Amino acid sequence: MNYGSVYEAIGGAATVRKMVEGFYPKVLQHPLLAPLFPEDITPVMDKQYMFLTQFFGGPTLYSDAYGHPMMRGRHLPFPITPARAEAWLDCMRRSLDETELSEELKAFVLERLSGPAHHFVNTEE
Ligand code: HEM
Repeated sequence: MNYGSVYEAIGGAATVRKMVEGFYPKVLQHPLLAPLFPEDITPVMDKQYMFLTQFFGGPTLYSDAYGHPMMRGRHLPFPITPARAEAWLDCMRRSLDETELSEELKAFVLERLSGPAHHFVNTEE
């Protein structure tokens, strides 16, 4: 695919916002994921919005605010099992299904997230 940045291809800020807003309610209802997250999810949503914006090639909002992402390191305090990585990706898949993106773009975005999700696995149990 040659779309310039993924960020532009998916429709920029409005779509990233939609992905994040659809995603966290699903996370908070997921039995494997909910226990890891704080009751007040708003700061997490804000950070995820900033991170995904830059991850997809948009403005470097996250690094500008928080420095080098070091995302695997930031996840080390939380026990991330292979099942939790799959659960995370499934919540994201369902959130993407609520956007207007084409099947091709949804699959592409999910594929781009699946590398990091599996890379953040830090425990088998
Ligand atoms: C593999 C499954 C994953 C699990 C179980 C998980 C879980 C978590 C948890 C528990 C937090 C901390 C929430 C808090 O602040 O208390 C967090 C933060 C975060 N996660 Fe994940 N995560 C996963 C994958 C990912 C992926 C694939 C990405 C992006 C590619 C991502 C991006 C972020 C970001 C940006 C933050 C905020 C970091 C910060 O504090 O600055 N996560 N995640």
